[in-house]
Amino acid sequence: MEYRHLGRSGLKISEIAYGNWITHGSQVAEDAAKACVAAALDEGITTFDTADVYAGTKAEEVLGRALRGIRRGSVEIFTKVYWPTGSGANDRGLSRKHIVESANASLKRLQTDYLDMYQAHRYDHETPLAETMRAFDDLVRQGKALYIGVSEWRAEEIAAALRIADEMGLDRIVSNQPQYNMIWRVIESEVVPLSEKEGIGQIVWSPIAQGALTGKYLPGGVLPAGSRATDSRGAFFITEYMTDDILRRVQNLRPVADEAGLTMSQLAVAWTLQNRGVAAAIVGASRPEQIRENAKAAGVRLDEAALAKIDEILGSAIVRDPALTASPRSRD
Ligand SMILES: NC(=O)c1ccc[n+]([C@@H]2O[C@H](COP(=O)([O-])OP(=O)(O)OC[C@H]3O[C@@H](n4cnc5c(N)ncnc54)[C@H](OP(=O)(O)O)[C@@H]3O)[C@@H](O)[C@H]2O)c1
Repeated sequence: MEYRHLGRSGLKISEIAYGNWITHGSQVAEDAAKACVAAALDEGITTFDTADVYAGTKAEEVLGRALRGIRRGSVEIFTKVYWPTGSGANDRGLSRKHIVESANASLKRLQTDYLDMYQAHRYDHETPLAETMRAFDDLVRQGKALYIGVSEWRAEEIAAALRIADEMGLDRIVSNQPQYNMIWRVIESEVVPLSEKEGIGQIVWSPIAQGALTGKYLPGGVLPAGSRATDSRGAFFITEYMTDDILRRVQNLRPVADEAGLTMSQLAVAWTLQNRGVAAAIVGASRPEQIRENAKAAGVRLDEAALAKIDEILGSAIVRDPALTASPRSRD
């Protein structure tokens, strides 16, 4: 494994992180979840990403149990706040009330005294940004969160948060967590240039397009048993990648992976890691073999010819519009 600074912060994270969305507490049984975490640790992965909302708060509990007994200083635990964790009007969003309550609940579920990274899962259009930034800063002063970050925020939203932090003398955002992979490249034109200037690292999600870039889904083919596309919740999220056009183009990436001596999923993860501003790729895995395979993308460099070939093969399937980074207008 290789380790990188998160943005301009002093924090080092494993360039491949393990995230438990869709899997822990839902698609994957507890024993398999624990085996995935154990395999991740064994591969040198130290950075673990979850969220209060995953599996209706159960994912944090599973991660807490899976990391029990591990020396706290040897791992970085990242979680998030924004999406609803209950039915109440204040069980969501980035108000001071919900941030404080959700952080305390996450600490309990994760069985830890502090979060290494606390992230705003989306931008909250209903809460003054200064209220959110002050609440995050309070958590940092209290030692409950060591660093703060955001997820799926637009460049102008990140810029506004930095301005407020600087004016009010508050802790600055050091990371952004956007979707980023060979197909979904919407951060490249605005978010990445701003982040590079401001010292913010990208920890990118769905680097394998939820499994679509492994090549295991064939256009018009039978869905592999136990895969995300067959999961009651996962199927909804992976749909955007399951078009015949995308799946056909993905099959054509196989010779590029072979030439580089990589599996398809390793090619996908390695691609994200060598793009500008990326600090880590957060991979998912429903089985330990997957995390072991994906972790081997660490340290891989793809040559210019391979990068050009990937662009040529994916062609018009590549999505670049920065306007597609958007948080809900209302949190209800
Ligand atoms: N901030 C946000 O809004 C946000 C949103 C989504 C995700 N995330 C974070 O990003 C993490 C990763 O997202 P993701 O799970 O979509 O990432 P991903 O790495 O693109 O997809 C992971 C899924 O692909 C399949 N897979 C992975 N490796 C494979 C392999 N070697 N061979 C075959 N299949 C393989 C597995 O699903 P199956 O085995 O079930 O097919 C696995 O669960 C999440 O856990 C979460 O921490 C954040």
